[in-house]
Amino acid sequence: MKLRLPCLCLLAVVCATTGFASKEKPVIGLSLDTLKEERWQRDRDTFTAKVESLGGKVIVQSANGDDTRQVRDIEALISRGIDVLVIVPHNGEALNRAVKAAKEAKIPVIAYDRLIMNCDIDLYLTFDNVKVGELQAKYVADHLPEGRAARVVRVFGAPTDNNAKLFKQGQDNVVNPLVAAGKINLVFEDWAQDWKPENAKKIVNAAITRNGKEIDAIIASADSVAGGVVQALLEEGIAGKVIVTGQDADLAACRRILRGTQTMTIYKPLKKLADYAAIAAIDLAKGNKISFTATIDNGFKKVPAVFQDVISVDKDNMQATVIADGFQKASDLK
Ligand code: GAL
Repeated sequence: MKLRLPCLCLLAVVCATTGFASKEKPVIGLSLDTLKEERWQRDRDTFTAKVESLGGKVIVQSANGDDTRQVRDIEALISRGIDVLVIVPHNGEALNRAVKAAKEAKIPVIAYDRLIMNCDIDLYLTFDNVKVGELQAKYVADHLPEGRAARVVRVFGAPTDNNAKLFKQGQDNVVNPLVAAGKINLVFEDWAQDWKPENAKKIVNAAITRNGKEIDAIIASADSVAGGVVQALLEEGIAGKVIVTGQDADLAACRRILRGTQTMTIYKPLKKLADYAAIAAIDLAKGNKISFTATIDNGFKKVPAVFQDVISVDKDNMQATVIADGFQKASDLK
């Protein structure tokens, strides 16, 4: 897999040992930003099932997008005597204190899908997030109008999520040369706080108020925001006429793609991530070696990391990818 993230160096599969004692039935704390989106429910369920199949137990907390609550959740998990802490941070900059408290209690920490900055985490597991952004923008680049610049709007994700910046970076890699070549005109762009559809809808409303309805494509960074984008387009009577990207292969997004109101999504095989995290969590709890394939600098250290690959999906390959993998059922998509 190609990786072009800053401060990241590819290693052969490397193993590290922790100094923690062996545990009979490890207890893993899972602190999630939110459970409102389909993907995080699936991550929780897959992770929990795998940990249980390995003889462990999971205690789940969800912070409902609130930093103070996520810090409290983590403190509560620490005081319940968990052996390993797995975190999906709401805000990758705001949890250093909570991670420090876990490390002081000798609890190893895994950053799950989103990086936590400037603190001592043991492992970071995610997807190739730059590639996600590149594939979203490439879809638009492959469907440019003839003889004029495409009018493109971008709806980025939560500015508090490091991934949202990486998706933008990937999009920039593809879009910027096309802007320079006069093939794309970026007419409007903004960040959707907390990845909320209602915030994405407001961004599209503002884009239309300012520039009119002549939009060729909206690069939405995930399916949650794509939902709000499509809602705005439906209200303007132009849904289906504008390319809309997404990410996560959520059920609602796959349905929109088959109906034609969204154009593509990015399929991220979550099971690989969740299973890897579960195995690593149990290994860390038992003091076993954990394997990783890369490192990434989070401002504190070079964190051992693993990046899973992603797949671009539209209506033509949905059957061969998302459905064939059992990620969504064909019967649910009717
Ligand atoms: C990102 C994640 C995406 C998407 C988004 C909104 O961090 O990588 O898959 O789910 O959050 O929750």
